[in-house]
Amino acid sequence: MEATLDLLAKASYFIAAVLFIVGLKRMSSPVTARRGIQWAGVGMVLATVVTFVAPATWGPAGVDPLNLGLILLALALSAAFWVWGRRVPLTDMPQMVAIFNGMGGGSAAAIGAVALVSASAHSGACTAEAMAAHACLHPTKASLAVLGALIGAVSFSGSVIAWAKLDGRMDRRYVFPAQQAVNALLTVAAVISGVLLVAQGTPLLWLIALFFALALLLGVTMTLPIGGADMPVVISLYNALTGLAVAFKGYVLQNEALMIAGMVVGAAGMLLTQLMAKAMNRSLGNVLFGSFGAAGPAQAISGSQKPIEASDVAAMMAYAERVVIVPGYGMAVAQAQHKVWELTQALQKRGVQVKFAIHPVAGRMPGHMNVLLAEAGVPYDIITDMDDINPEFPITDVALVIGANDVVNPVAKTDPASPIYGMPILDVSLARNVVVVKRGKGTGFAGIENALFYADNARMLYGDASGAIARLVAGLKEVDGGGH
Ligand code: TAP
Repeated sequence: MEATLDLLAKASYFIAAVLFIVGLKRMSSPVTARRGIQWAGVGMVLATVVTFVAPATWGPAGVDPLNLGLILLALALSAAFWVWGRRVPLTDMPQMVAIFNGMGGGSAAAIGAVALVSASAHSGACTAEAMAAHACLHPTKASLAVLGALIGAVSFSGSVIAWAKLDGRMDRRYVFPAQQAVNALLTVAAVISGVLLVAQGTPLLWLIALFFALALLLGVTMTLPIGGADMPVVISLYNALTGLAVAFKGYVLQNEALMIAGMVVGAAGMLLTQLMAKAMNRSLGNVLFGSFGAAGPAQAISGSQKPIEASDVAAMMAYAERVVIVPGYGMAVAQAQHKVWELTQALQKRGVQVKFAIHPVAGRMPGHMNVLLAEAGVPYDIITDMDDINPEFPITDVALVIGANDVVNPVAKTDPASPIYGMPILDVSLARNVVVVKRGKGTGFAGIENALFYADNARMLYGDASGAIARLVAGLKEVDGGGH
């Protein structure tokens, strides 16, 4: 009976793993992404259901009530998170992703803790029989348990700090003295205690506690100084680390679904981290051990912000040849994407060429703007990446910035003291005319002044993005004539 159940579980885990991989492949294009999520979801349901028949859930006398109770509790918790996840607005996604990363890392660390604590209860020699009965740890398993626990614990506490920062519950950037030396010391101490745990075979309880305390502290001290433009890279990194930790735990538990799902998440997360770091002109080491911009007072910005009426902007755009729209976080907050598409169509009808310029970290999650524009029905061929659109700004008549701030801030190029110094930006200021839609004088995610808003060629169209774009659509209708 047990052999049949084991075989059934293994076959189902294999099918689940195939579903994860096919799902991930489909997520690589916006056209098939929705289907991809569904495929991966089916894989996850299968893996969860199979857990009920897997031998690990069963004790010698039938189902183990403790294991079953824990599985049901986990299911109830995930149902609650499912309800929460459906209600979370897109703009709060990074916080949610940070919490989910943290839980994945925390679970991997907890599995490592259970494996180590059970092994610590073993008395006598760690013989082959004792290892087979999971009473003590095989050195390979012990190494992976410790490695997974280290990565999982760092990812857990680091993700909690990232969540608090993204949710505005703590300072974005907290630089403390000798930060790099402290982090290096903690890393070395955590690794040494981990090596000792493996070497002991029957680990001592106090050493297990010390190891986890060091790993958790390291996650906190590593994440505290990171802020501003580096946050997206860090979230992606913790996502990858969680995947890796889960894969190691899959080996410790001999669970194929965990191994494959963990490796897929780890590999995909690492690729995303590298792409994001490259897009931000940063190396991973720089993100973790350096920080954007040097300390010191920011350069003063001269000039004033010059307001403009919607009717004037409408006339300017109606008689333009090329308009580039730069969406940002504010467009997402206002849910203005449908109005923006309406405006685009009205301009296209008049023969104006309209393109969208997308910065890799515009909004609050990778691909945030692409998702919103796709939802509104904007065709992909007029949506352009930063590197492709930047050379076109000097021949652009009107650059319409909608709720974007940090990603168009020229101080990233001009002020070495700025926290976003070095971050590539959309060269909006090179356009002939710049119109910025925002509600008032609010700063962006990095919390700094924007030199673009004070430029000679820039005008401010104040108001909520949704209302402001509606006024532009109405203004266009009032413009006389039907083309150039
Ligand atoms: P931000 O720099 O955050 O600026 C958004 C601007 O939108 C604000 O200045 C705000 O000014 C305006 N705004 C807010 N609500 C609005 C509304 N209802 N209508 C009109 N305007 C509104 O946005 P961004 O340029 O997209 O840059 C993204 C930032 O987030 C970067 O610093 C990036 O590093 C960070 N970040 C990105 C990610 C990813 S992966 N995309 C993840 C985490 C953090 P007012 O208050 O004056 O309206």
